[in-house]
Amino acid sequence: MGQNERVTFGSKLGVILATVGSAVGLGNIWRFPYMLGENGGAAFLLVYFICILILGLPVMLTEFFIGRHTHRNAAGAFKAMVPGTKWSLIGYNGVLAAFLILGFYCVIAGWTLEYIWQSVTGGMHGKGADQFKLEFETFSTGVVRPIAWTILFLGLTHVIIVSGVKNGIERASKVMMPLLFLIMAVLCIRSVTLDNAAEGLAFLFKPDFTKLDSSVILSGMGQAFFSLSIGMGCLITYSSYFNKQTNLQTTALQVTVLDTLVAVLAGVMIFPAVFSFGIAPTAGPELVFITLPNVFGQLPFGSLWSFIFFVLLGLAALTSTISLHEVATAYVHEEHHMSRGKAALLVSLGVLILGTISSLSFGVLKTYTVMGLTFFDLLDYVTAKIMLPLGGMMICVFVGLRVDRKILKAELTNEGTIPFYFFNTYAFFMKYIAPIAIGVIFLNELGLIKWMKGFF
Ligand code: TRP
Repeated sequence: MGQNERVTFGSKLGVILATVGSAVGLGNIWRFPYMLGENGGAAFLLVYFICILILGLPVMLTEFFIGRHTHRNAAGAFKAMVPGTKWSLIGYNGVLAAFLILGFYCVIAGWTLEYIWQSVTGGMHGKGADQFKLEFETFSTGVVRPIAWTILFLGLTHVIIVSGVKNGIERASKVMMPLLFLIMAVLCIRSVTLDNAAEGLAFLFKPDFTKLDSSVILSGMGQAFFSLSIGMGCLITYSSYFNKQTNLQTTALQVTVLDTLVAVLAGVMIFPAVFSFGIAPTAGPELVFITLPNVFGQLPFGSLWSFIFFVLLGLAALTSTISLHEVATAYVHEEHHMSRGKAALLVSLGVLILGTISSLSFGVLKTYTVMGLTFFDLLDYVTAKIMLPLGGMMICVFVGLRVDRKILKAELTNEGTIPFYFFNTYAFFMKYIAPIAIGVIFLNELGLIKWMKGFF
């Protein structure tokens, strides 16, 4: 497919919405609270903020540069810029990461469908915290139900990818995003006015630095990459559809701020309730799902709130799965000269297999572990904590080494028509700080830094 035939996003707002749609999803509302709970609270929040600022923003801008400069998919972009070199491995790493992330993401997205169903059928009425937990465990460790929801969610994603109704999605996002903000604000207010709410807020905002170890730092970095959809070419693929007028700098800033805001709102919505209802903050992937029903139970018309919330969460997840699916589909379609429909089908069938195993790993396959991680945990760990930061690091190294600064600056300033006051700061962070920081975090987690200190 030639450059000129590629579709571009319809409007300025459409660009931002689609990219925010990719970034905001289960990563903010499900994964962020669960990671924060497992990693000791506010100390994790601090690491996450720092990673967003010094790694997230530069990597995002660099992905925007590559995507719009080449107008190609994640793997093709590197082939176009430096043909016949190993740099395209960055793109393949990204395509593989997209596929693996979908393999566990769809399971959680399926859980939101179960909760929509429960809200409609009134299954959430008048129960205590223990009962919600028990019912959730019965559901998530089951076989047929969670797999059926996973397949349904994947099917929805598939249909949107092949029918190209992205315009509809863009338009739906315009209503959905503000609504999600609004309902989260309501839930935050309800949550912080519960008994014992202060304890939850302290857990979220008052750092206990004794909790800060290498695994907390790795988790914070992984969460920043996961939440911003960076490190695997998702934003390369999206920005390849941007037009020449798109302001890459403000888009990166807006997406980052909105995404971070949604994560913080999710924290304020969840943690006061976690402490108020005596739920363990370390509950893991189920945290949000066993906490929220209790909050809905404290609101008049609880089932209605619950229904609206989970519909919005499901849609937020859908705009993220679309972006992940698009990375893999665009790659197979454009690089392997397969029709879009066939490419999408291939991706969906592969994800279906991964998703089924992921779902079963909460129940019957729970005891099959690798290094103590179930299949679900393994997919999550390998992608968020290894592949995304590694990809981000290599993206920065690549642009730092192989791209002429003038070309970089011209693209990021739309050929000099918009100013970029912090260009040198950005270039310094992208070329040096980000790759070194990511490298150090990896070495630290592997225990190599401690080991090296032994020599001095
Ligand atoms: N960022 C999304 C979320 O928070 C998930 C996601 C979509 C993603 N595309 C991605 C994560 C690309 C990593 C890479 O839910």
